[in-house]
Amino acid sequence: MTTDAKLSQIIAAQEEIFVQRQPGSARLAEQARHHLAGGVTSSWQITAPQPVWLSHGRGSKVWDVDGNEYVDLHGGYGAALAGHAHPAIVAAIGQQSANGTHFAQPTPDAVAVAAELASRFGLPRWRFANSGTEATMDAVHLMRAITGRDLIIKIEGCYHGHHDSVQVSVAPELADAGPESKPSSAPASAGIPRAITDLTLIATFNDLDSVARLLDEHRDQVAGLIIEPVMMNAGIITPAPGYLSSLKDLLHSHGALLTFDEVKTGLTVGPGGVTRAEGVQPDLITLAKSVGGGVAVAAIGGTEHTMDFVAGGGYEMVGTFNGNPLAMAATRAMLTEVVTPEAYEKIGKLRRRAQEGISEAIAAHGLTAHVVTAGAKGCVVFSPEPVTSYRGFLDVDDRYSHAHWLFQHNGGVFLPPWGKIEQWLISVQHDESDIDRLVANFAAFAEAVSGARD
Ligand SMILES: Cc1ncc(COP(=O)(O)O)c(C=O)c1O
Repeated sequence: MTTDAKLSQIIAAQEEIFVQRQPGSARLAEQARHHLAGGVTSSWQITAPQPVWLSHGRGSKVWDVDGNEYVDLHGGYGAALAGHAHPAIVAAIGQQSANGTHFAQPTPDAVAVAAELASRFGLPRWRFANSGTEATMDAVHLMRAITGRDLIIKIEGCYHGHHDSVQVSVAPELADAGPESKPSSAPASAGIPRAITDLTLIATFNDLDSVARLLDEHRDQVAGLIIEPVMMNAGIITPAPGYLSSLKDLLHSHGALLTFDEVKTGLTVGPGGVTRAEGVQPDLITLAKSVGGGVAVAAIGGTEHTMDFVAGGGYEMVGTFNGNPLAMAATRAMLTEVVTPEAYEKIGKLRRRAQEGISEAIAAHGLTAHVVTAGAKGCVVFSPEPVTSYRGFLDVDDRYSHAHWLFQHNGGVFLPPWGKIEQWLISVQHDESDIDRLVANFAAFAEAVSGARD
């Protein structure tokens, strides 16, 4: 039997176990089909072999509707940095909900949250929204409004949410991506007018020349560039030393602005995101996911120059639920009581334990893979060399990631679905036994897969 056939056999066997363990999820998926489009509440919840329906979460664990317990390293696509039902978040939400959940007028918590974000990320002025998509949409609008220019630059393979301007070259197939030296602007979804897609120019991560070329070709027309400063929708791809600061200088020399989309990296890579870790201050930062401790909230931070444009009425940054009191209470608790220096120290130890354990299993079984981590986030990349941009990521064989996901799931560890794209998230409530379960499952997977290569 060929390696391919053996790998397919392993995946089929694991999918069979997966389905056997979850008859309740299968029943709900069938019922849901009638009134939920696609049987789920977001298309990313459609996972193979079937969506997993959850009943509850507590601490570092979640339980599915069939009563199976999982160490939760999915973390709600990177939002559950606090873990589940964290006492500080529960108390904050409880108190605020007893005092009213929505006014559309500011509450004192918003001042405390903005001040704390300013001190962590080094940008003085903040506003709030409800999702990462809204935050990056505001950032793009603002870059355009301030500069009076229409074009933006986006990095191939970065994801910034589902609004038109950034739904471009998110995960293009090679056939649609254009030449590596001049990537095309490929629509990432149906329903986005070509005229808007054409306003988004595409550059390559870690490649300053690709940005310089676009700025030269479109002189005085580029409003700014939006980037995940550590790419986290293509496994984890880290910036080369000096890349981010040179990028900022290059953009500014052309009168263009820089937005760091820290929706994923934000509080997860460290207390002040990549911004603080790399010491490069962008013009705008977007945050969401983990910042609200599991409640829907987003934040947009900026320099005086950018945010005074908002303050002066140059751009109306609005939303009925912006700065919602429930979200502000949870975010305040998250920032002041949950993501403490001690919490980051603990997460750092668990990260090293995961990295070492998995790396040992990779070596022991001779797998072509390596571990990449950034703070609380990490993933196994099934390639021999570190990946430096989206084109390298395209070459990574996704079937190994899917087989790994299934082994983890059947072994009681819930990693984020979608194979090679996503990463694990270690929360403040995980402990060594959780990480040991991750490593043991990985070793079982590595043994099975290395057998498949005989
Ligand atoms: C880097 C990044 N930006 C923006 C978003 C959009 O966030 P949301 O799903 O809250 O709209 C995501 C979502 O995964 C993301 O990873």
